[in-house]
Parts: sequence; structure tokens; C-alpha cells
Amino acid sequence: MCGIVGYIGAQQAPPILLEGLSRLEHRGYDSAGLVVRANGRGPRALKVAKRAGRVRDLADGLPKRFAGTAGIGHTRWATHGPANDVNAHPHTDAAQRVAVVHNGIIDNAAALRDKLTADGVELVSDTDTEVIAHLIGQSEADTLEGKVRDALSVIDGTWGLAVLHADFPDRIVVARNGSPLIVGVGDKEMYVASDLAALVRHTTTVAMLDDGELATVTANGFTTFRHDLTATSKAASRVDVDPASYEDATENQWGHASYMHKEMLEQPAAAERMLRGRLDERFGAAHLGGLNMEPREFRAIRRVKILGCGSAYYVGQMGAGLIEDLARIPADAEAASEFRYRNPIIEPDTLYVAVSQSGETIDSLLAVQEIRRKGGRVIGLVNVVGSAIARECDGGIYLHAGPEVAVASTKALTNMFLGFALLAIQLGRVRDLSIADGKRLVTALAALPGQIEQILAKEEEYAEVARTLAEAPSLFFIGRVRGFPVAREGAQKFKEISYRHAEAYQTSELKHGPLALIEPALPTVAIVPADDLTERNVGALHEIAARRGPLVVVTHEGVDLGGVAATRLDVPRSEPELDPILMTLPLQLLAYHAALHLGHDIDKPRNLAKSVTVE
Ligand code: G6P
Repeated sequence: MCGIVGYIGAQQAPPILLEGLSRLEHRGYDSAGLVVRANGRGPRALKVAKRAGRVRDLADGLPKRFAGTAGIGHTRWATHGPANDVNAHPHTDAAQRVAVVHNGIIDNAAALRDKLTADGVELVSDTDTEVIAHLIGQSEADTLEGKVRDALSVIDGTWGLAVLHADFPDRIVVARNGSPLIVGVGDKEMYVASDLAALVRHTTTVAMLDDGELATVTANGFTTFRHDLTATSKAASRVDVDPASYEDATENQWGHASYMHKEMLEQPAAAERMLRGRLDERFGAAHLGGLNMEPREFRAIRRVKILGCGSAYYVGQMGAGLIEDLARIPADAEAASEFRYRNPIIEPDTLYVAVSQSGETIDSLLAVQEIRRKGGRVIGLVNVVGSAIARECDGGIYLHAGPEVAVASTKALTNMFLGFALLAIQLGRVRDLSIADGKRLVTALAALPGQIEQILAKEEEYAEVARTLAEAPSLFFIGRVRGFPVAREGAQKFKEISYRHAEAYQTSELKHGPLALIEPALPTVAIVPADDLTERNVGALHEIAARRGPLVVVTHEGVDLGGVAATRLDVPRSEPELDPILMTLPLQLLAYHAALHLGHDIDKPRNLAKSVTVE
């Protein structure tokens, strides 16, 4: 949510900042801006350019003589105040000596604004961030570090921020509290960013700040310290990422029209990476070394509680089903965004599982912190290595999906499901899951990447169906038991990127209300696997067809739909416990092609952001 990038060195900063911002645009994309320090300390030492719109609009409108070898930039997802030029970051103090870019939310911004106004400061924007610039400007500390410390000492809330000051031309000061901030080390030049995506083209030697940490970044290096200015002496280390995987989907060798398309098609390879070395075919078990748990500890678990947001929440529901099915441990998933507000009961024999692609979603992070504060054990299913949630957990399963840029999660979601399957097998095999059942599932998991490939190969077929669905103003997704979270995820994807109203119901609940809406203009996408509920599901299809509701049915070859008029999308058969993920894939493609048909910006749907780092 919002992106920060910074550079200090010998090169011209603006092109580096603009390039970095374009790589962070998935974080927030309603406005963008940058500030550079021109030579000298004169009254116009800081040059700011910012505007509503995309990074390319900012680049196109940049003044000709916009030069400087140090600067910071920002791409915004509006929280306080609409997306307009004035509210775009950076924000400056009245004297234009201080410039700040900020991710997060200042909770006491209203009180601070009132106080600043009473002091005679004229606030020009509606944002919470602007107060930080004024507070730094007002501080009488001798150093920039001291000024930033003074400002932060009166602020409540979350921040990842970067500060440039005309009187301290050799440095950028950055701080983290709840919003990611990374320092990148170059050769006599340094970078800062809120996300690795903006750094990897330049360096993979990085230091990730912890909450409560600040850093001074100069062209020659960096030092880290706490709010009381005592050193934390953090060192940089190499991160193992492939810079090529961050290349723009439109310019890379894959030639995809969008990141989402690229990422969907990467799923077979990503799934294989996820499973590599983790399947034990001999004992029908799973190897999950990162959990840091002994079999004895697995056996002591009486309940599993899964927490995530958005798609991660829905796949968490699929995961709860897997755990109940395979390990026979009561399990459920809950929206992490709600969890800590209901004073949750944390039990010592419950295993808590946080699931997150980014590992930075603030609602999920705060849920993890709440659990830990109350003494619970929490493991993470996280894609981004070293992210806040991954660091906060007692152990975890990395997803190895590779960077995911499109807001709509695809390959990370698939690997989350696989992570749950592995966890369920692991938990099951120290309990009542037989070796035969374990082997059955391990064999089925090993076959999944190939089956995912088969589904993706039918893209054209799905595209045609999607174009019809896109014409409907509203649609239903239905499924029952294992199929219900699939329906929820299908509806989520559809609404996220096509902007069509899409709602998920349990098939069993249709007749308790939603059936009233069925008519020729309201299509239903139904999940109907070949399992012990097929007959009941087909019964519901008849009820819909009788009311002339159009039907698209995601099902298995050989399932008899009892003569119901429906467009059927058959997926390959797996073991029933693994059906949910194979049935999710056609829904990704339906949403994608509907959005493509409607001409939407697929990777950056309106009003959304890839990782939501504000509450
Ligand atoms: C945002 C995105 C969703 C995503 C959710 C959780 O709301 O728009 O697509 O599923 O965050 O993200 P996470 O990084 O925690 O998986």
C-alpha cells in the first residue's frame, strides 16, 4: 500500500526514482511524486514534482531542468484526502526545507493538525503525512536524525517514511514502524525502498529495517538506530531473488499482456517449486522443516485457526477443510482484519496459521502480534521471504511462488493451498492419516502441476465463457463444503478486476433467499465436483435452470448434470481433498478474460492495492 523509493549517489536521481516507482505502482497508483536535492543549500534546494495519476503521467510532466543526485519518491493509495495533486507525496514544510514520503497512517493526525494550525502553520493538503514534514521543520535538534526523532516522538500510528532535508544534503533518513522499509547497498550509491521490487535491478544486498528502527543513508553507506538514537548496527546481506522475475510483463520474453496473465501461466512451475523436496513418497508424509516443530508438538494440537485477508482468507477456508479432512483436527479460518477487535481467546493447544502473500498486510500482522502477545504459537504461510509476518512467526512455510505483482493473487494463492495440503498431511500423519492415505495424497500433489497446466491450456475456452459473463451486471458463484471457499474466491476475483457485482453463496443456502434473484439476466457459476455431494449440487442446478438462470458449471468429466442446460468447464480429476485448487483455476481465467473484455486495467484494479499496509 503506497510505495517508497529513494536514491543517493553520483547518478541523476530522477530516472532511477521514476523507474523504481513504476515497479512499485501495484502498491498504490492514484498519484505519484518525487523530490530531488539540487546542488547547493539555497532556498530552492529541494525540487518537488507530484501529481494525481500514474507514474507515467508524472514522468511526462516532469520539468526539463529537474536534476539532483539524491531524492525520494512515492506512489500513493489515498487514505486521508482524495487523490489530487496537492495530496500526492512528497509533502514539505512551509519553508520547503523538509520533504517527506510516508506509507501508513498517523492516528493522531487531526490533533496534530489542530496544534500546528494554532501555531500558525498553514497546512495545504488533507493528508496526515504533511504534519510530519512540519514537525520535522519545527524541531530545534541539530541533526536530521534528531529532528526526525522529535517528530516521531509525538506521532501515533504506523509509518514507513523517508526524509530529505535541504540543510543536510549528504543524507536521507528513513524510519519504519509497521510499514516496510528496506535499504539497498550499491557501489558508492545507496537506495531505499518499501519493496524489493524497486531495488533488485540495482542491488540485492539489502538491510530490512525492523519496527521502531531508523536509518541514515548516505552515498557511502548506512547506519541504523532506535528512536532514542542508540545504534542497532544492522548489517546488509544478500537476498536470494532473481531480478529477471521482476521484469515488466509487457517487455519481457514471456510477452504477456499483464502481470496477472504471466503469473497465472507461471502456476505449474511455481507449484513445482513449492512441492520440491517436501513430498515424502515412501511414508506418505510431508517435510516442512521451517515449522520448527517436533512430532510431539504436532500431536498436542487440538485446534487450528487460520487468519488471512482477501484471497488469503478464502484459501485459508480451503486450508481449514484440508486440515479437518486429513488430520481430523477442528479447523477454521477467520478474516484477520476482524480478529483482534473481538478480544480473541488464545489457547495454548491451538496452532495459529497466518497466511499472506506479501507478509506485510497490516491486519494479518496485527493478528499475529495479538496471538503472540497472548502467548499463542503462530506459523506463517508467506511468499515474501523476510517480510514482517514471516519474521514475526514462530515458524513457517515459504510459498516460493516468486514475485507476484498483479493485485489479484493467482500463483501465490495456489501455493498457499499447497502449503495447507502439506501441513494437513504432516498433521494427519502424526495422528490417524494412514500411510496409504498419505501416499494417495502425496501422489496426487505430485501430479497437480501437470493438471494445472492442462487447465491453463484451455484458456481460449474460458475466455469465450468470460466474455458472456462480463455482459451480466451481476452474478452468483455457488459451491458447498469444499466448493464454497472456491466460490468465494471466484466471486472475489471477478469483482476485483471486472467490477461486476459477484456474490458467493453456499449452494445449500440458495433456497433460503438468493433464489429470489434468479432470472435470465443473472448467471450462476456453480462448483460441482464429482464427490458425495454431486447429486445434491445437481438438484440445485435444476432449481436455477427452472427459473431460467444461465449456468456455468465447473465440474469433472463424467459428472452427469441431469440434462440441465449449462456451459460446462471440466477440470482434471484429483483426489477430492485437492479439488478446490483445480476448480479455482478456471475462475481465475474467467475473471481475467471478463476484465480484459471490458478493457480494465487488470493489474491495477480501481481503488485496490496489492498489499494493504494500513488498517
Ligand atoms: C489485498 C489485495 C488482495 C489480497 C489481500 C491479502 O486486499 O487486494 O488481492 O488477497 O490484500 O494480501 P496478502 O499479501 O496478505 O496475501
